[in-house]
Amino acid sequence: MTVHRTDRLSGQELTLAYEQRVISRDLAVAIPDNSFTVIVGPNACGKSTLLRALSRTLKPAGGRVLLDGQVISSYPAKEVARRLGLLPQTSIAPDGIGVADLVARGRFPHQGFLRQWSRDDERVVAEAMESTGVAELADRSVDELSGGQRQRVWLAMVLAQQTPLLLLDEPTTYLDIAHQMDMLDLCAQLHDRGGHTLVAVLHDLNHACRYASHLIVMKEGAIVAEGEPAEIVTAELVEHVFGLPVRIIPDPETHTPLIVPVDRRRTGS
Ligand SMILES: Nc1ncnc2c1ncn2[C@@H]1O[C@H](COP(=O)(O)OP(=O)(O)OP(=O)(O)O)[C@@H](O)[C@H]1O
Ligand SMILES: [Mg+2]
Repeated sequence: MTVHRTDRLSGQELTLAYEQRVISRDLAVAIPDNSFTVIVGPNACGKSTLLRALSRTLKPAGGRVLLDGQVISSYPAKEVARRLGLLPQTSIAPDGIGVADLVARGRFPHQGFLRQWSRDDERVVAEAMESTGVAELADRSVDELSGGQRQRVWLAMVLAQQTPLLLLDEPTTYLDIAHQMDMLDLCAQLHDRGGHTLVAVLHDLNHACRYASHLIVMKEGAIVAEGEPAEIVTAELVEHVFGLPVRIIPDPETHTPLIVPVDRRRTGS
């Protein structure tokens, strides 16, 4: 895909590295505006690294990330946080912090010397907790929550940030099947009704095919395919990227590609 100048978030000629270890070289990526972009790829292929670069958490060793037409590093940190929210793959909450207090931290980028905590902040925090199903946990301490509860609290914090761009690194990993669907439906709603641009890393290819308006497939630090799931996902692609033989059938619910691993025990392959 060509890099559109108009896309709010893009990366050009990116080299991403940790000290001497280069993860991606000469990577071009454009997040289509108003898309629900999903990034898939094997463990350690560089998905989180790319998300870190796109959110300014990692400084590229080469190339640039553009946010609204400007190099992302040229913005003050608070300004980036008003435009773009990141849910990292793992986050550590401050010791002993309560759920409502953690979610309220999502409002920090909107506050300043002259603008203190308002009714509006209160409402946004309450809505974020409501939509992620953590309102009843408001008075609990984050330390004592289950993995899935904690993941939803972090999402609430990012939602409370009210950014037009949301980058979510594996938002469903710790969730049971019902909460996974709740989370993805919530993302879809933000995308469809709220006009948000979402980027999520997911491991479940079937969820990716159901929800993504734009799918980015990565392997060894490079983008090997991107586009609408139905147009790009083939058994050959999945085998090439994951080294796993699969069959692809239409999802009976959504008619998007449904990836079914070949039963290697039965076929003996
Ligand atoms: N802080 C770090 N310092 C050094 N190397 C790192 C660091 N973080 C990640 N890496 C390395 O960079 C490569 C890409 O890691 P990354 O976290 O981007 O993978 P990923 O695609 O998100 O994988 P996963 O699906 O397991 O989350 C891996 O080889 C990893 O070991
Ligand atoms: Mg990762």
